[in-house]
Amino acid sequence: MKGVVLAGGLGTRLYPLTLATNKHLLPVYDRCMVEYPISTLLQAGIDRIMVVTGGPHAGDFLRVLGNGRKLGIAHLEYAYQEHEGGIADALSLCEDFADGEPIAVVLGDNVTNANLAAPVAAFTVGAHLFFKKVPDPQRFGVPAFDTGGVLLRIDEKPATPASDYAVTGLYLYDARVFDIIRTLAPSARKELEITDVNNRYLGWNALGWSELDGYWTDAGTFASLYYANAIIARERGWIAPDALAGHTVTP
Ligand code: DAU
Repeated sequence: MKGVVLAGGLGTRLYPLTLATNKHLLPVYDRCMVEYPISTLLQAGIDRIMVVTGGPHAGDFLRVLGNGRKLGIAHLEYAYQEHEGGIADALSLCEDFADGEPIAVVLGDNVTNANLAAPVAAFTVGAHLFFKKVPDPQRFGVPAFDTGGVLLRIDEKPATPASDYAVTGLYLYDARVFDIIRTLAPSARKELEITDVNNRYLGWNALGWSELDGYWTDAGTFASLYYANAIIARERGWIAPDALAGHTVTP
């Protein structure tokens, strides 16, 4: 399986921090944010990776990642997303790189210690999502289940969430994902939505899911960026294990 890190977009929710560099190069404790999704892929045994970036500071990625060897990446490619067209639009740039193989996709602002090695090894066809219980599901894609626990649909940022789960920004897809993206229409926020991709797989009865082990957060708002820093500081032993007890990210 090949890996994709989606690090496009302008990071407007983090202005003024992102006026001078790309959001995914901001610090999360002792590393640049983008190194965490890369680590997630490497830990799963995936070392052929494409990073999709965009915006005015895309060149900074070369300084931080170079050819990827220092991080343990065997083969690193970059793609440039011209506009903030959405997560699925960024993913569409990876079709030649994927070359018919399944791909593991991680959003560039997701920080987790979950080990994806087993689900990656088990993946064959369709798509697979990873859900995490969160205190603020309305900020995310949210799965809706029937009373028997069967997945019915994914709602993107619902005002009234149907469950306490977030769809994390880690996805496994077969090569059909690119055919699906070609058929998508932009949403109300003028983006090609990854949630529409996932609902299409669900309609085909080809969407698997599992609950993500360990910690997980995004880092795309001031509160979640701070929280991501604190999680890693705790992991490195710099703050006490109970320092985040009762902490919630919203807003
Ligand atoms: O973090 C998980 C959530 O990520 C999911 O639960 C949602 O279903 C999904 O839509 C997404 O929501 P966000 O509102 O957090 O997405 P955001 O616009 O912040 O983009 C997340 C990352 O995706 C960003 O750090 C880089 C990448 N991206 C995003 C856009 C809009 C791109 O590469 N290109 C883009 O045009």
